[in-house]
Amino acid sequence: CGIVGIVGRSPVAPLIVDALKRLEYRGYDSAGVATISEGQLGRRRAEGKLVNLERKIIDDPLAGNIGIGHTRWATHGVPNETNAHPHFSENVAIVHNGIIENFAELRATLIADGYVFSSQTDTEVVAHLISRELASGLAPVEAAHSALLKLQGAFALAIMFRGDEDMIVAARNGPPLAVGYGDGEMYLGSDAIALAPFTNAITYLEDGDWAIVRHGGVEIFDLEGNRVERRRQQSIGTSYMVDKGNYRHFMEKEIYEQPEVISHSLAHYLDFANGTARKLDAPFDFAKIDRLAIAACGTAYLAGMIGKYWFERLARLPVDIDVASEFRYREMPLSSNDGALFISQSGETADTLASLRYCRQQGLKIGAVVNVRESTIARESDGTFPTLAGPEIGVASTKAFTCQLAVLASLAVRAAAERGHIDAERERELVRELSETPKLANHALKLAPQIEKLARELAHVKHVLYLGRDTSYPLALEGALKLKEISYIHAEGYAAGELKHGPIALIDENMPVVVIAPYDHIFEKTVSNMQEVAARGGKIILITDAKGAAHSTVATLDTIIVPDAPDIAAPIIYALPLQMLAYYTAVFMGTDVDQPRNLAKSVTVE
Ligand code: G6P
Repeated sequence: CGIVGIVGRSPVAPLIVDALKRLEYRGYDSAGVATISEGQLGRRRAEGKLVNLERKIIDDPLAGNIGIGHTRWATHGVPNETNAHPHFSENVAIVHNGIIENFAELRATLIADGYVFSSQTDTEVVAHLISRELASGLAPVEAAHSALLKLQGAFALAIMFRGDEDMIVAARNGPPLAVGYGDGEMYLGSDAIALAPFTNAITYLEDGDWAIVRHGGVEIFDLEGNRVERRRQQSIGTSYMVDKGNYRHFMEKEIYEQPEVISHSLAHYLDFANGTARKLDAPFDFAKIDRLAIAACGTAYLAGMIGKYWFERLARLPVDIDVASEFRYREMPLSSNDGALFISQSGETADTLASLRYCRQQGLKIGAVVNVRESTIARESDGTFPTLAGPEIGVASTKAFTCQLAVLASLAVRAAAERGHIDAERERELVRELSETPKLANHALKLAPQIEKLARELAHVKHVLYLGRDTSYPLALEGALKLKEISYIHAEGYAAGELKHGPIALIDENMPVVVIAPYDHIFEKTVSNMQEVAARGGKIILITDAKGAAHSTVATLDTIIVPDAPDIAAPIIYALPLQMLAYYTAVFMGTDVDQPRNLAKSVTVE
């Protein structure tokens, strides 16, 4: 969810809606704004996209120079207007990002005390809790502080009190919250980008912090109530709303940006002129660590899986890779000789952040591959490896993924050199091969018309299987993930060799099988798996190169011929047709490509 707050000098509702637009990546299933005008609380809330709220406010404006706003990704309670934030209780208005874990027991005591709940959310508990503290005689600030001490879980909160047009109380325990400084105005936001049109002077609250925000400034406290100082900094976030240009969707634009942003990302890590991977200010010494533990979520996790093949093959560096939601609880044995690497486009994903903090407790040195440089994960790492993808707006990740791959491939080359597993000549060769990636990616984009035609057929099927071996296996998972995220067609990715151990039972003429098979050391093995599919009437869509097409003996429904790519560049190049296949299929199906149902771009709850 995304949070905004303004203690302003002019009507804030339209400004809050504007700021919420920049936070829609955090959720978009409902939204709301509350203000105080002439001492009274007022609010507008709407189910669905932010435009619904915007229209409501145009039809029925909301006065008030102080306000809070919210865009929601539902956890507790369906995304309807009643469950949309802000939530009220008598004299209190509140917006919340995160999960209150002890909400059920708090709710029971509040109901016993006569409080009536109008929503199914965990958030409303906090509003009533503060009301109860007020009723017991506490002043607003003390009531808020006392309620905070009773909450368990991860949350960011903004709280207003009826009658007080000069105060928002903010609290952070987990999800990010930034305070912004204006001229006689103050702001709150889930990130610096939300506040960018107002100010770039910001302070990030730390975990356990809570703050009193007034026209004249901010006072920050720790959980015990002691005043603390937090650094005021200049945000590098820009206020420009990225626009789609001539593209139909952000996702399409971002697919087409890939040659350029991959090139930027590679150039940051590779010295093309000298044929070397640059020495980096790395958080750990690749030559000294025994193992690399990688954790990430979603598409970033799949980038990490491909990274594992590279680090192990080129640098002989053992890699353990986990989805972060498993890693954080599975108590994996770690040693101070291990390096930990976290991959995250947003740098805010709750599970990834928790995994990072777990490694911090275990005394590991921490690196992070992130796209948002001011994010929490970036700030809490010992060293960051930025992806230079630029802002990614489409919820389904495309350019961030290929840039993550570009960074991981470059790091693997660096690690291989530092660990003495490749000589200078091989390093030069690998760097040259990677330097071809942007050009090859550009060629791969020319496959769009063929893929668009194929997508027209795919739009009619119910299930799709994706197969691949080696680095094409995580790509098969990513291809399937992309398709299900935006077209809602059921898709599964499998290691091609695993097909015979179960999924082969699914094969019939109604389920297309996408096979990703560059002509590499494992190509013939994949061809055998294709034979197994063909023998059972399965329809194959083969993604390969010219040599692969010439050597394949299996009849296909369609063969997509990707430009010949060196092994190390192939996963980056093959990602493109998979993204395009998902994209065009979703376009034919008429889904909301950039903001698919039920998803959020950045998930700050576990
Ligand atoms: C969400 C998004 C996914 C993304 C994942 C990890 O679930 O919908 O597209 O891959 O989070 O996000 P991160 O920002 O950590 O890369």
